[in-house]
Amino acid sequence: MAADITKNLYVYCWVSFCVLFMFIKLAKSDNYIVHMDISAMPKAFSNQHTWYLATLSSVSAKSKAETNPTISFSKLIYTYNHVIQGFSASLTPAELESLKNSPGYVSSVKDRVVKVDTTHSFEFLGLNSGTGAWPVSSFGKDVIVGVIDTGVWPESESFNDNGMSDVPSRWKGECESGTQFNSSLCNKKLIGARFFNKGLIAHNSNITISMNSTRDTEGHGTHTSTTVAGTYVKDASYFGYAPGTARGMAPMARVAMYKALWEEGAYTTDIIAAIDQAITDGVDVLSMSLGLDGVELYEDPIAIATFAAIEKNIFVSTSAGNEGPDVETLHNGTPWVITVAAGTMDRDFGATLLLGNKVSINGLAQYPGNFTSTEFPIVFMDTCSNKTELSKIKQKIIVCQDPGKEDSLNDQFNNIQAAGNIAAVFITNSSSVDVFAQSPFPAIFLVQKDGDTVVDFIKSNTDPKASIVFKKTILGIKPSPRVTSYTSRGPSYSCPLVLKPDIMAPGDSVLAAWPPNVAAARVNQDLVFTNFNLLSGTSMACPQCFGYSSTFKSCLS
Ligand SMILES: *[C@@H]1O[C@H](CO)[C@@H](O)[C@H](O)[C@H]1NC(C)=O
Ligand SMILES: *[C@@H]1O[C@H](CO)[C@@H](O)[C@H](O)[C@H]1NC(C)=O
Ligand SMILES: *[C@@H]1O[C@H](CO)[C@@H](O)[C@H](O)[C@H]1NC(C)=O
Ligand SMILES: *[C@@H]1O[C@H](CO)[C@@H](O)[C@H](O)[C@H]1NC(C)=O
Ligand SMILES: *[C@@H]1O[C@H](CO)[C@@H](O)[C@H](O)[C@H]1NC(C)=O
Ligand SMILES: *[C@@H]1O[C@H](CO)[C@@H](O)[C@H](O)[C@H]1NC(C)=O
Repeated sequence: MAADITKNLYVYCWVSFCVLFMFIKLAKSDNYIVHMDISAMPKAFSNQHTWYLATLSSVSAKSKAETNPTISFSKLIYTYNHVIQGFSASLTPAELESLKNSPGYVSSVKDRVVKVDTTHSFEFLGLNSGTGAWPVSSFGKDVIVGVIDTGVWPESESFNDNGMSDVPSRWKGECESGTQFNSSLCNKKLIGARFFNKGLIAHNSNITISMNSTRDTEGHGTHTSTTVAGTYVKDASYFGYAPGTARGMAPMARVAMYKALWEEGAYTTDIIAAIDQAITDGVDVLSMSLGLDGVELYEDPIAIATFAAIEKNIFVSTSAGNEGPDVETLHNGTPWVITVAAGTMDRDFGATLLLGNKVSINGLAQYPGNFTSTEFPIVFMDTCSNKTELSKIKQKIIVCQDPGKEDSLNDQFNNIQAAGNIAAVFITNSSSVDVFAQSPFPAIFLVQKDGDTVVDFIKSNTDPKASIVFKKTILGIKPSPRVTSYTSRGPSYSCPLVLKPDIMAPGDSVLAAWPPNVAAARVNQDLVFTNFNLLSGTSMACPQCFGYSSTFKSCLS
């Protein structure tokens, strides 16, 4: 009797497990990019799109043992025309298995999440306006640059089309309408704006897209696209840093934005749809500051799609990634695209500390707020680790010596921020000092030698005082360019025999346009806004490579 119950329970459990398992198996769809052999298309179909719809319809019917064409029709995400022969679709494992037996099926890869990599650079590259590559290529005149990114802020002055000739008739792109976006926002500079999120939505049908249009809500795309082709804008600066006329690498080139990177996520299905459309539209150059990590070339849809672009004579520039300094951290190690690393410029941003004895000392700083020119008492607080001591200080400039331990600068920074005071001076050797320079409170970062001068001054005076002037731009920094520590290193995971990255371009603290409603920094607790932002990363270096591409093109013609 007891044995029977056990046996029945066993069978019952087993059956429920199977039912549950089948349910999970049926329910769980995923996006796939499917390669098809178009020569296997039956003559009855007028084009590949209808063939794919029919294929998906029969696959769905077979795997579900029911016929409901409306379900299968919604499974197709994109039909691709150039990047591959094939399509993307949302498929259950059973449907995928069934598809593998369909006529014309070649191969498939699962959709993947894509990683988005985060006025003076021209002279620095040797591209001066009198001679050399720039005038030869007429500052990029009539070159159309397609940028795959987070969208644009079309109202930016950097997209002003004053002095631009009419859009060439070969251009087949469009300025698509959407949330807070319509075709009247494009002009002779920003000639295309399209957006791709069907893949993203297929992953989660309940998703809310916060800005369903090419409008940029993050700033990244506005910055990269104007780094490539922003027009001349006088009196641009980042809160007074890097003041001057801002302009892109190719100020006469035209921009077409393909938004495929969303606040809500980024997938290969959408990105290759963007590349596919850019090829159809007729771009000359494609700039992409994104990539897939740790994928073999033959499984990397972006590598395959860029191959199609190269075949159409489109120059493709991609970023190496920001995962350095370890080796084999690079993405986009694809042999046929240019992979760009980020270097420094001969420019730094800083502040001047003026001691009471009239000695002035320069240090790094990017504090965006306004600061008084008044003199304040200055006090040395050693490692700034005693919070009780720090909280007793009022109306003073505090000097901290970084003991050089792991995270010690970070701890000091947090202690000073919590204590709150007039300003801080950090004496540090830390290689990550750049990360702290954009401080929300007045702070200046000194090298050890200069720090020693300050400490000596404080110790040898009974009432030491100092003042600070922020918003200094220092040119002629040597040595430069230097390879940044964050830029990803080769060799490429997928193709280690090809030397990568190909070139290095300025990627550190690049000034370019920014959406005025996306916060650029913080001053104390307040968010602050600006039309131009300083960003660092291989994303910022990637578009600069365009300077070389226009040279290549002019050499060919
Ligand atoms: C397009 O949008 C702009 C700004 O939102 C608006 O001023 C303009 O009237 C719109 N144009 C059309 C044709 O809808
Ligand atoms: C989508 O939302 C509906 C209703 O809120 C919910 O029943 C369903 O489980 C959600 N689906 C997903 C995939 O989150
Ligand atoms: C986004 O806009 C497109 C085109 O205007 C529209 O077809 C689509 O349904 C919209 N999607 C969402 C999630 O609002
Ligand atoms: C700094 O001063 C300028 C000019 O007076 C002003 O426009 C700006 O808002 C100030 N910045 C902050 C963060 O208060
Ligand atoms: C911090 O300084 C106070 C004196 O102001 C002292 O009593 C305390 O022990 C110090 N704390 C540490 C952790 O050194
Ligand atoms: C910083 O570097 C200098 C020179 O290399 C060295 O003398 C000093 O001790 C270092 N300071 C710290 C806190 O590591």
